[in-house]
Order: sequence, then structure tokens, then C-alpha cells
Amino acid sequence: MPDLHIIVLAAGKGTRMKSARPKVLHSVAGTPMVDWVLRTAAALRPRTTTIVVGYRAAELQSALSGHRDLRFVVQEPQLGTAHALLMAEPALAGRTGILVMLYADVPMLTAETVVRLMERHTSSGASATVLTADVENPYGYGRIVRDGEQIARIVEERDASSAERQIREINSGIYAFTLEGLFEAVHGIAPKNAQGEYYLPDLVAVYRRQGRKVETLKVPDADEIRGINSRAELAEVSRIVRQRKNAELMAGGVTIEDPATTYIDRDVAVGADSIIHPGVSLEGNTSLGQGREIHSGVRIVNCRVGDRVVIKNHCLITDSTIGSDASVGPFAHLRPGAELQDGAHVGNFVELKKTVLGPGSKAMHLAYLGNATIGAKVNIGAGTITCNYDGVTKHSTIIEDGAFIGSDSQLVAPVTIGKDAYVGSGTTVREDVPPGSLAVSAGAQRNIEGWVDKKKKKQGGSSGPAGKRS
Ligand code: UD1
Ligand code: CA
Repeated sequence: MPDLHIIVLAAGKGTRMKSARPKVLHSVAGTPMVDWVLRTAAALRPRTTTIVVGYRAAELQSALSGHRDLRFVVQEPQLGTAHALLMAEPALAGRTGILVMLYADVPMLTAETVVRLMERHTSSGASATVLTADVENPYGYGRIVRDGEQIARIVEERDASSAERQIREINSGIYAFTLEGLFEAVHGIAPKNAQGEYYLPDLVAVYRRQGRKVETLKVPDADEIRGINSRAELAEVSRIVRQRKNAELMAGGVTIEDPATTYIDRDVAVGADSIIHPGVSLEGNTSLGQGREIHSGVRIVNCRVGDRVVIKNHCLITDSTIGSDASVGPFAHLRPGAELQDGAHVGNFVELKKTVLGPGSKAMHLAYLGNATIGAKVNIGAGTITCNYDGVTKHSTIIEDGAFIGSDSQLVAPVTIGKDAYVGSGTTVREDVPPGSLAVSAGAQRNIEGWVDKKKKKQGGSSGPAGKRS
């Protein structure tokens, strides 16, 4: 195979998105559309990848700074797709081989299709090969005008005759070009069309006039070359991508009760024999082990979850780790840095942040645990709060193995509760509790006999409960 170079066009305004953000940074199933395209490009192992930016170039460039080896060229103003290609001429000077053109707003194209395009291009000895598709509704696309079997030219919607508008074979805008002689020919394209733009598809007619060979390859699945121009198309492409992800997981042994309401990002892994109930979102680089059950209304972002875990309804879990045989929820919030070790349980209305809950430990009701390191087999009573913030800095709480924290306790950090220690209900712990001891902070309880009757008399014989006003 000759050398491969890739160019990605991303300079357009994306007017129809009506967005302050560059169109290609809008996400499809959790990944910006331009990243889908750059990942496809990377899978092809090209010698160079060049991206043409223009509208909000600086913003796009900084958003893509993580892609090493990506070359940026700026197109300003944007005078059409042929003009965009010319901007890359200096970057590709002296290069030979094949140049494949991709679009940052066509995220579903697969690397396999590009490989087939390159194979067709090299085996036919063509100077340009156009990726085409038959579609139901060709409106808005460039049409492939044939002269017998051969492609003769491409005509844009606005410049097409009514007969040409009937053609259902469309230009995907994706091409393979032989670099030798390419730029020379593109310089010859004139903006003679309804929009006054330099149209790259005009290269087909230029090449045919010069007697150079132009080939086509038709994709069987037209979805692959779908472009995104509006929010409605963004939603439509996202739906297709998600359906495929769900189908892939179901084929791998995952039960998805209602694929229509299950949102799973492209990089998420789910082990076999898991059950996912309706209305679940699994996002980012989340990976779930085997045999788990995720109930309705759960959102998990960038988490690692072990085997046989149950996540009950309505939990939000982000940037956290959950060991095997653990359970979470309902209504729990695991914030970044929460780590539930094997067999740990977190229940109703419990919030964790930067907190390790050791093996077999439990916090079942109404607790806030932040910046805490909690050992094995610890019981955290209902309403326990780590007071981790003094208004300036966050402080740590350490709770050693086997400790028992009574309900409605406040642990004022920094503080350590020793191994097997007890904290009585309602205690405000301000000092370390040594291992094996009991901490209580409230004074002894006093019962004042006859207090209610005395109060009633004072209030002038009112018979209602104390404090009640009519
Ligand atoms: C283009 C093709 C059309 C094809 C369709 C497929 C042309 C003239 N027409 O039309 O035959 O059927 O794609 O989707 O090429 N861009 C730049 N700089 C520019 C203009 C565009 O970088 O000066 C980029 C845009 O960001 C976009 C892509 O090129 O990613 C396509 O441009 P767009 O204006 O959307 O072309 P279409 O009208 O869709
Ligand atoms: Ca387009």
C-alpha cells in the first residue's frame, strides 16, 4: 500500500446548530463528533493527519490539543471545500501516496469502509475515488451524474437540473485522491456555481476532461456517511449510535430491558449476565463486571464496578470505584473519589466524596461521608456526618476496622476513631477516640416530671399541644 495521509475538514460554521460552540465539539453518545472522526483516522495509521479549522479555530484547536501528531491548518475565510483542501497544500508538500478526505461532522464512518475505499482506489489505478451511497431522500446532497458506468461529474443540489435532482446516488464528500498532481488540478477549480464557492466535487469533471480515471465505491449502509448539520440530526445520529451499542452489549449477554431509554456511551464495558433496567445512563469510560443489576434512574459516569453489584433506583455515581458484591442505593450519591470495597453497602440518601468504605462496611441511611478512610466491617449509623470543612480547608476522618458510629453523630475532622471503638448516638466527636473505647459527648439525660402540665397552666389553660397556635 502507498503512504496514507488524511485530511479532516472542520472549518465550516455549522450555522444550523445555532450554537456558540463549534459544531464538531457537540457530543454524539458522550464523544465529540470530531473525536469519532479522529479515532477512525488514527485506526488507519496514516503518515500524517491534517485538520482544516476556521470558524472558532482557536477554541477547536485547544479542545483537540490532546491529539498528538495532529496538524492544524487555518482556512479564513471559508470559500468552499476545494479552497479548504488547498489550505493543506503546504502541509502536504513533497508527500506522495493517497490522501483520504474525511469530515469532522460525519462521525459514523468506519475505518473498514475507508480501507475498502483505499483498496478500490489503488486496485483501479484511479486518480480520485468518490465514496457514494444510494439514499431515499437525496435532497441537499451532491448527485453522482454517470456517463454509462463511469462517473462523469458531481452536481450540487442548487446547481442541478430537475432531471439530475431525481438521481438518488449521492456524494458522501469522502474521497481518496492520489497526491501526485492533485493540488495542481484543484487550483484549476473555479467558483462557477450558485453559491460562488470553490467546490471540490468539481474535481471529478476536471479529471475526466484531463483523461484521468475517477472511480466510485458505494457504501451499502448510507447511515455511515450521515452528516450532522442540526440539533435534530445530532439526536438522530446519537440514537443510531446508541442502538448499535445496545445491540452489541445484548449480543454479548447483557439484558437491556428497554433499549430505547438506555444510554450507554461508546467506551463503556458491561460484563455478561448483567441486567439493566429502563432509564439508565452509563457514561464515559465506565466498566461494569459480570452479573450485576442496575435499576431505573441510575447514572454512572467514569466508574469501575466489580462483579455481582446491585445499584438500586436513582443513584448518581461519578469517578468512583465499587468492589464486588457491593450494593448502592436507592437514592445514593457517590461523588468523585468514592471507593466502595468488596461487600460494602451504601443505602438511602447517603453521600460519599473522596471516601473509602472498607470491605463489608455499611452506611445505610442519611449520611455524609467526605474525605474519610473507613476500614473493614464498620457500621455508620443513620444521620452520621463527617464535618470535613472548616470554611478554609478540608480535613480527614479515619475510622478503623470494626468501629460502630451511632446515629446522628458528627465527626469533626481531623479525627480518628480507633479500632472497634463505639460512638454513642448523637455524639459530637471533636477528639480522637482510642481503640475499644466508647465516646459520648451529650450530658446525662434529665427528665423533668410534670413539665407539660406546668406549661399548659402558664399558657392560660389552652388544651392544645405545647407551641400550637390556632
Ligand atoms: C458537501 C459536498 C456535497 C456532498 C456533501 C456530503 C461540496 C461543494 N459539496 O456539501 O457534494 O454531497 O458535502 O455531506 O463539497 N468546509 C470547510 N471549509 C469550507 C466549506 C466547508 O472546512 O470552506 C467543511 C465543513 O465544515 C463541513 C464540510 O466541509 O464539515 C462540508 O461542507 P458543507 O458546506 O456542509 O458542504 P455540503 O453543502 O454539505
Ligand atoms: Ca454538510
